[in-house]
Amino acid sequence: MASQKRRIAILGSTGSIGVSALEVVAAFPDRLEVVGLAARRNVQRLHEQVRRFQPRWAVLTEENLQGLVSPSEFRPAQLLFGEASLRQLAAEPSVDVVLIAIVGAAGLVGAWSAVEAGKIVALANKEALVLAGPLLLQLAERSHAQILPVDSEHSAIFQLLQHRNRSELARIVLTASGGPFRGKTRAELEHVTAQEALHHPVWQMGPKITVDSATLMNKALEIIEARWLFEVAAEQILVLIHPESIVHGLVEMRDGAVFAQLSPPDMRLPIQYALLYPERWPGPAQRLDWSGLRQLHFEKPDVETFPALQLGYEVAKRGGLSGAVLNAANEVAVDCFLAGRCRFLDIPRTCRAVLDTYYAQASASQSTAGTTLVHASATGFTNSRAEETWSLESVLAADRWARQEASRWLNT
Ligand SMILES: NC(=O)c1ccc[n+]([C@@H]2O[C@H](COP(=O)([O-])OP(=O)(O)OC[C@H]3O[C@@H](n4cnc5c(N)ncnc54)[C@H](OP(=O)(O)O)[C@@H]3O)[C@@H](O)[C@H]2O)c1
Repeated sequence: MASQKRRIAILGSTGSIGVSALEVVAAFPDRLEVVGLAARRNVQRLHEQVRRFQPRWAVLTEENLQGLVSPSEFRPAQLLFGEASLRQLAAEPSVDVVLIAIVGAAGLVGAWSAVEAGKIVALANKEALVLAGPLLLQLAERSHAQILPVDSEHSAIFQLLQHRNRSELARIVLTASGGPFRGKTRAELEHVTAQEALHHPVWQMGPKITVDSATLMNKALEIIEARWLFEVAAEQILVLIHPESIVHGLVEMRDGAVFAQLSPPDMRLPIQYALLYPERWPGPAQRLDWSGLRQLHFEKPDVETFPALQLGYEVAKRGGLSGAVLNAANEVAVDCFLAGRCRFLDIPRTCRAVLDTYYAQASASQSTAGTTLVHASATGFTNSRAEETWSLESVLAADRWARQEASRWLNT
C-alpha cells in the first residue's frame, strides 16, 4: 500500500459496525486515519469518538439538535448538522474511503453521494443495494467508485471470487446462523417478545439487524444484495443455516469444486478487509481456534416457519422497486414490533401484504399502459416509460409509499 494513510469517513460511527470500524482504525495508525464521523443523534458517543480520533468533521443528521449541542465542545472538529452535511462529508475530496455503517434505508443517500463522488465505498449497509442495487452499480461504473462489501457473507463471496473466472461460477452459498428462533415452530413464534428476538446466539449487532436475523429477513435482504453485487440470478443463490457462523460464504464452480471462507464471527475482519483492500495485515479480529473446532453444521432453512426468506428470492427475481417496497415495509414492521405494538409474525405478514398491494397496483397500471412499468410517486404509483428511467427519487418515493402502506396495514 502507498505510504500515505487512507483517509476514512464513517457514516454511522456510533453503531455496532461503526464502533468495530474504529477499533480497526485504531489498530492501524500508520495506514488509516479518520477524517469524518457521522451519526444521527447519539451526541455523547460521537463526542467521545471525536475526542479520541480527532477527525476534521463530525456530523449529526438530526437537524433539531442544532442549537442544543455546542459545536465548541467538538473543536477542533467542525460539527455540522443535517442530511446535506452527511452527503457533503461522503463526497468530500479529502476523503478516500467512506464506510456506510448507517442502518436501514437512511444509508442510501450517503452511499449514493460517496459512489457519485467516485470513492472507495466500504458498504456495510445492505439496504442501499436492496433499494437501488442496479442504480448504484451503474453510478459506480460511471464515477469509477469501488464498492467493497462489508457484510460478512458478501465479503466472503467477494474474497472467494478474486482471481477466479466468473464464467466458471455455478452458484454462491450464503450462510445464516439461524438466529435465536432456529428450530421453533410457527405456533411458538406467535408470541415471542422483542427481548427474546434481540438475544442473538452469535452476533452482537444493532437492534434492527438482530430482529431481521430472527425473522430471516436479514438473509432475504442479503439474497437481494448478492443478486446485484455479484450479478448472479436469484436461482444461483443458495442459503444454508450454519449455526456456528464460521463459514461465511461458499462459491461452487461449474465443475463442482466448492471454495469456502472461514473465520470466527467477528465483523472486524470484513471491515478491515474493506478498509485496507486489497492488502491483508494481522489485525484485531479473532482467529480460528483449530484445537477447539470440532464440527460444523449445515442445514436447509425452514421456509414455512420463516417465510421472509422466500420474499427475498421473489424480490431478487422481480427486481425494480420491489426491493424498496420490501425493505420499507420491513423497517416499519420491525419498529412496530420493537415498540411492542405488533407481533413477531406480523413482520413477514406486513411485508407480504405491502408487496401484494404494490404488485396489484403495478399490474393494473401495466394493463392500461401496455409495456410501461410502474413507478412510485409521493402519493402512489404513476407510469413511466422504462426501467432505465428509475432514479434515486423514484426509489425514495417507493420507500415513502411502502412506509405509509405498511403503517396503514399494521393499524388496521
Ligand atoms: N452489526 C453487524 O454486525 C452488521 C453485520 C453486517 C451488516 N450490518 C449492516 O450494517 C448497518 C449498520 O448496522 P448496525 O448493527 O451497526 O446498526 P446500529 O448499531 O443500529 O447503528 C446504526 C448507526 O446508524 C446511525 N444512523 C441511523 N439512522 C441514521 C440517519 N438517519 N442518519 C445518520 N445516521 C444514522 C446511528 O446513529 P445514532 O447512534 O446516532 O442513532 C448508528 O450510528 C446495517 O445496514 C446492517 O444491516 C451490520
